[in-house]
Amino acid sequence: MEQQKDIKKIIIPIAGLGTRFLPLSNVISKEFLPLVDKPVIQYIIEEVKNSGIEEVVFVVNPGRKNILDYFKKNTELEKLLVKRKKDKILKELKDFEEVFRGISFSCVVQKEPLGDGHAILQAAKYVNNEPVAVSFGDDIVYSDKPAIAQLMEIFKTCQAPVVALKQMPVDKISAYGVVDVEKIANNLFKIKKFVEKPEASKAPSNLAIVGKYILTPEVFQYLKKTGTKGNPERNGEIVLAEIFEKMLADGKFIYGCELKGEWLECGDKLKWIKSFFYLALKDERFKDELKQYIKTIK
Ligand code: UTP
Repeated sequence: MEQQKDIKKIIIPIAGLGTRFLPLSNVISKEFLPLVDKPVIQYIIEEVKNSGIEEVVFVVNPGRKNILDYFKKNTELEKLLVKRKKDKILKELKDFEEVFRGISFSCVVQKEPLGDGHAILQAAKYVNNEPVAVSFGDDIVYSDKPAIAQLMEIFKTCQAPVVALKQMPVDKISAYGVVDVEKIANNLFKIKKFVEKPEASKAPSNLAIVGKYILTPEVFQYLKKTGTKGNPERNGEIVLAEIFEKMLADGKFIYGCELKGEWLECGDKLKWIKSFFYLALKDERFKDELKQYIKTIK
């Protein structure tokens, strides 16, 4: 049997158009919107670090190549803060740097927004025949055990692609990618079918796809085979769920892991606002006063 490899890399595609946040997303990618006092992307990097991942590859659009600046130490600024005796801010910056210690960051450009599968394919050169994690830039899971670590645990036993899932209420399910499944264990499923945004009455289950995955080298072979031939009905996009469908049709196995934790979505305005409130109301520094304040709003 082939030796099992630990997952040490993650691909984070953030090259989408972010149309639901226009015109704001013309200047700020939605992954840099704040949740309480940190950008969305920072929560994802914390999750990545706490899952034992050491290498992050961002897929960005051509206008956002400067994303790596966020994770770089700004030595000049720190010298200035020392000079000005801004000790509290310096301490905060040091804590911030600590979050990223031990992680290497790189960035690859997706020239055109040709879908999530196409974005992931752009990072293929960083993946050397090894399994890799993927997290979209706008899906956070608030949990004891990081979501990526939950997927990695499943991967250890199944050695096949793993898709993160979360149960959604029936009236919300038509906004999501949904799966038909066969239950194997408590939170583990064998996926039988992927269905994009089904009508509630036709949804094969209430399990929605969260934007987090473990992908095997075989998924990249399928992505490469698709090349530039995306789905003409979806503006030529290469859609990851459609690649998975092809794999299922060829008899390959794909597993689903129902995540433990609260899924905090940030892909549209209302979801982002709800996620902001959720985290603010969990935050010891703000929660009491915030609760009082909300009661006063008429
Ligand atoms: P979404 O569909 O949620 O993001 O893609 P979007 O396309 O940016 O947003 P809207 O629908 O226009 O508002 C899920 C993830 O895949 C990335 C996005 O950046 C997001 O993290 N993505 C999507 C890419 O990197 N490239 C693409 O071509 C499409």
